[in-house]
Amino acid sequence: MAHFIPEELEEYVVTHSENEPELLQQLSRETYQKILQPRMLSGHYQGRLLSLLSKLVNPKNILEIGTYTGYSALCLAEGIQPSGELHTIDINEELFDFQRTYFDKSAYGKQIFQHLGNALEIIPKLDKTFDLIFIDADKENYPNYFHTIIDKLNVNGILLSDNVLWSGKVTKPVKDDDLATKALLEYNTLLKEDKRIETVLLPIRDGLTISRKSN
Ligand SMILES: C[S@@+](CC[C@H](N)C(=O)[O-])C[C@H]1O[C@@H](n2cnc3c(N)ncnc32)[C@H](O)[C@@H]1O
Repeated sequence: MAHFIPEELEEYVVTHSENEPELLQQLSRETYQKILQPRMLSGHYQGRLLSLLSKLVNPKNILEIGTYTGYSALCLAEGIQPSGELHTIDINEELFDFQRTYFDKSAYGKQIFQHLGNALEIIPKLDKTFDLIFIDADKENYPNYFHTIIDKLNVNGILLSDNVLWSGKVTKPVKDDDLATKALLEYNTLLKEDKRIETVLLPIRDGLTISRKSN
């Protein structure tokens, strides 16, 4: 992943932001020890941002596309209403028990519902609407995810989209077979132009876009 700001500044930014909760430190350590591709996990700084944004929204229902080991789900759950639900989807069945162990160690275990399978098939079957949606799965499908979730996002609801700068590849010439970058270019334009949402792209970590549904 590219560093968009110098490393010493990044370190200063992290030092002057909220500390990482103990359970998430544990989850992160165990992910790095046992699971492939641990850099997919949101991590300390972005995790604290997700938590704070969720607390500002105070959502009833949250939808996450791309659970991985559950780090971002637990951050988002910190802002959920006591009667709310967090639904998180991942296609990798090997991660299911790992996620559950950590969800159950948290204060939100009973509010977190895991869905195993292809998000594009699962989302239409969820008979719910959401105040907060986080898209963080396969980049090739980001435009499809947008079309699938937009009617399930409540007015004033917030859509968060991760990796939208894709290590800076969105500003470089794109190879013909680079489907992920092509999809992200399409997605970033879609978010900017769709009249139902207002959007600001933040150059945080690998790029995180915040969009609010206005009508
Ligand atoms: C970047 S990781 C998610 C990281 C997690 N949100 C976090 O911040 O800790 C992406 C996840 O998306 C999952 N994924 C990929 N394609 C998917 C699909 N079509 N449907 C559901 N999940 C998918 C992968 O198995 C992987 O665990």
